[in-house]
Amino acid sequence: MARSTEAVGIVGLGYVGLTTAACFAARGVKTVGIDVDEEKIAGISRGKPPFVEEGLEEMLRKALKRGYLNVTSDYDALADARIYYITVGTPNTRKGSIDLSSVKSASRSIGKVLRSSEWYKLVVVKSTVTPGTTSQVVRPLLDSESHRRQDNFGLAANPEFLREGHAIEDTMHPDRLVIGASDLTSERTLVSFYRGFYRSLPKTIRTTPVNAELIKYASNSFLATKISFINEIANLCANIPGADVSVVAKGMGLDKRIAPSFLRAGLGYGGSCFPKDVQTLIKLAEQVHVNMSIATTAHKANRRQALVAIELTQKLIGDISGKKIAMLGLAFKPDSDDMREAVSLRLIRELMNKGAKVTAYDPAAVPNARRIFGDRIDYSKSVKECLNRADCCIVVTEWPEFSKLRPAHFKKLMRTPAVVDGRRVLDPQLFVKSGVRFAAVGYSGST
Ligand code: UDX
Repeated sequence: MARSTEAVGIVGLGYVGLTTAACFAARGVKTVGIDVDEEKIAGISRGKPPFVEEGLEEMLRKALKRGYLNVTSDYDALADARIYYITVGTPNTRKGSIDLSSVKSASRSIGKVLRSSEWYKLVVVKSTVTPGTTSQVVRPLLDSESHRRQDNFGLAANPEFLREGHAIEDTMHPDRLVIGASDLTSERTLVSFYRGFYRSLPKTIRTTPVNAELIKYASNSFLATKISFINEIANLCANIPGADVSVVAKGMGLDKRIAPSFLRAGLGYGGSCFPKDVQTLIKLAEQVHVNMSIATTAHKANRRQALVAIELTQKLIGDISGKKIAMLGLAFKPDSDDMREAVSLRLIRELMNKGAKVTAYDPAAVPNARRIFGDRIDYSKSVKECLNRADCCIVVTEWPEFSKLRPAHFKKLMRTPAVVDGRRVLDPQLFVKSGVRFAAVGYSGST
């Protein structure tokens, strides 16, 4: 249903860009998506997203069919758009600081488009960028490339908070909008666009670009810290007879001030955001001589946490050299094929170093794992195949199908039934009673 006459250009069709483009177009916003990767453009034009995301393919196909979405690598296609979003990636350099090269090249290209524009346009930075980037990096490039037509365009930082696997839901129903506009006209333009798009404007904070940029880093680092904190409590629970972190977390989460989300203990956080954003924040603070000791500890604790799975495996089966280890889960989280900074990467490397033979199963991420590990590990097409004649199984990602597994499945298929639950998806009581050798993060195992 067409509800908006606004035309929008989105530069960078990665996770955020493509989801945003599909959601805008699905609600009748004329949207042009730009990416420099021709292969990616070819796939998207055929209605094929380059990653797994619930509901995205269907939404994309509808938007393309109805003519609300056009994807191309040609910046000229942006001429009619009124709002330009920068949604390119901001990876980390090897030293842990932010690599802004894609943001810079997108800004230059948009600046050139602004040069010939007759109407007021708004440039919105949605990519996660360090404080000061919108005003001190993007603005000067837009100025110089547009031949200083400042009066003809506005600028705002507007970070996104979408989660992989829930990207559409989070885009369509955000908890809040963060609008860091450089002036009142930019703010009004963006608020008015979102008012039309959402019908009723979500909770919105209107602030400066620098605060908006910081809100993103502070939010992600806080959530990462919350996970590292509960993982630390989990490691304590594992050493206190009768203790179980899932019960402790549940009790904590009932306090409104604490809240239950992001208190799931496990093998640590991964993905394209948390590890990168925490490191960037630490690096950024270093540059202004501030010691982010809490974020630093959360980051270090997270790197160690994956190894808890190895310790538990050794506790169950002793020396793992030459043993067949069945890994259930490769993606950094369920409902995704993304393996960026996934816990599985560190675990597989560590298991191989110790001479174990790894066989892995994941409902979505096997093609990505093959690109990384080639034939150094084995891949299975099902849980059954993965468990077959294994010496120990580690649950690495909390895919729903793994929580349905019962002791009998492991007993029937494995050489020696031994299970390490790295994501707390199995019922410990059931497993302990069944005689399967069992260990889980944050579970002491004895009463
Ligand atoms: C995150 C943020 O949630 C999102 O707002 C931001 O814009 C991008 O980064 P995402 O990386 O998709 O989103 O995943 P999220 O669901 O937040 O999980 C991140 C990692 O934390 C996963 O590896 C997950 O397994 C782990 N996690 C999450 C836990 O270990 N315990 C929890 O309680 C929650």
